[in-house]
Amino acid sequence: MNFPSKLLGKLKDRQLSNTLRKLSEVNERELVDFSSNDYIGFSKEESISERSAKELKRLEHLNGSTGSRLLTGNFLIHTSLEEDLASHFKAEAVLLFNSGYDANLGLLSSVPQRGDRIFYDEYSHASIRDGLKLSNAKSFKFKHNDIEDLRRKIKATSGGGEDYVIVESVYSMDGDFGPIEKLVDLSIELNFNLIVDEAHSTGVFGPKGEGIVVEKKLESKVFARIHTFGKALGCHGAMIAGSSVLKEYLINFSRSFIYTTAPSPHAVLAVKNAVSLLPKSKAPAKLHKNISCFKAYIIHFKLEDFFIESGSPIQSAVFGSPGKVKEISSRLEDKGYDAKPILYPTVPKGQERIRFCLHSYNTAHQMKEILYLLSTFV
Ligand SMILES: Cc1ncc(COP(=O)(O)O)c(C=O)c1O
Repeated sequence: MNFPSKLLGKLKDRQLSNTLRKLSEVNERELVDFSSNDYIGFSKEESISERSAKELKRLEHLNGSTGSRLLTGNFLIHTSLEEDLASHFKAEAVLLFNSGYDANLGLLSSVPQRGDRIFYDEYSHASIRDGLKLSNAKSFKFKHNDIEDLRRKIKATSGGGEDYVIVESVYSMDGDFGPIEKLVDLSIELNFNLIVDEAHSTGVFGPKGEGIVVEKKLESKVFARIHTFGKALGCHGAMIAGSSVLKEYLINFSRSFIYTTAPSPHAVLAVKNAVSLLPKSKAPAKLHKNISCFKAYIIHFKLEDFFIESGSPIQSAVFGSPGKVKEISSRLEDKGYDAKPILYPTVPKGQERIRFCLHSYNTAHQMKEILYLLSTFV
């Protein structure tokens, strides 16, 4: 069977620009982890998997949920997890999704209507952009973290309908924070609905890992929050937190919620046990110590000019060419370290970088050595 030549051409272009993506097997060789999103080590936390396995044995459906939530896939464990999550994340209501990608798609494709406007940060994650593509509302990009640019763009055209603004509390590729407090103030001044994607702050920020909106006590001022379970919580899936009427609306109109098999019992129990561990876990505090330690080593090895300023576990060093970042990543790998190159189109051309993801389980020695190695490669 012939593969379409246009598509072969696109693959060839990727090859020629040194940006062809390939799957690589994880853990074939034990590398020190500076790349996963397992920020607080919960993906390997045995107390979560042991409790989940015990609870799973008591259920009738061990392997799958058998249908969508609206048909045969809604069990007590789904609704009680949503209640637990609403209480933990200080929301009136929570709705589960199979992934953060699904949550952003389902929210953005169903909530903003024709005649409404959605403003999004230029560094928004692909799942946000894809959700915008599915929406009937008009979308407008504003400069990264630039409140004045957002204000200008909101004022430049008149919508007539509702306005929505979507941002991330921690940006996935730069690791910097969205200016949530200023955005809340602006949302009150200009009357828009603020949506915050907390994928990379869940489990990391907030007194019990509730994210940055709760850390700043702004939960009642935000229209919707997206929290994902596949990063710091070490599990799988996502949720949207908001009002009860938002939940009811999504159950009725969000296609990525309606037309898909409900999260499996195993996934639900893992999230339940991960969230219940958060208040007791010492791992988030260790992670924050490591972030400070890593930043001190950046200064020690005079690497400040390469690194984007960030107070989160995502620390990116920009080298600006695909060849260079691939070479640095592969030299680090030769020395036993896993830090991934991030290429166009995930980041703009010329912004190619190594993204160092920090964890509670990284040691001071590992952080010192990886940055020492980096300083000898650049
Ligand atoms: C900001 C942001 N939102 C959403 C997602 C998607 O989450 P998930 O991996 O659960 O689909 C990601 C994942 O990379 C992300 O970084």
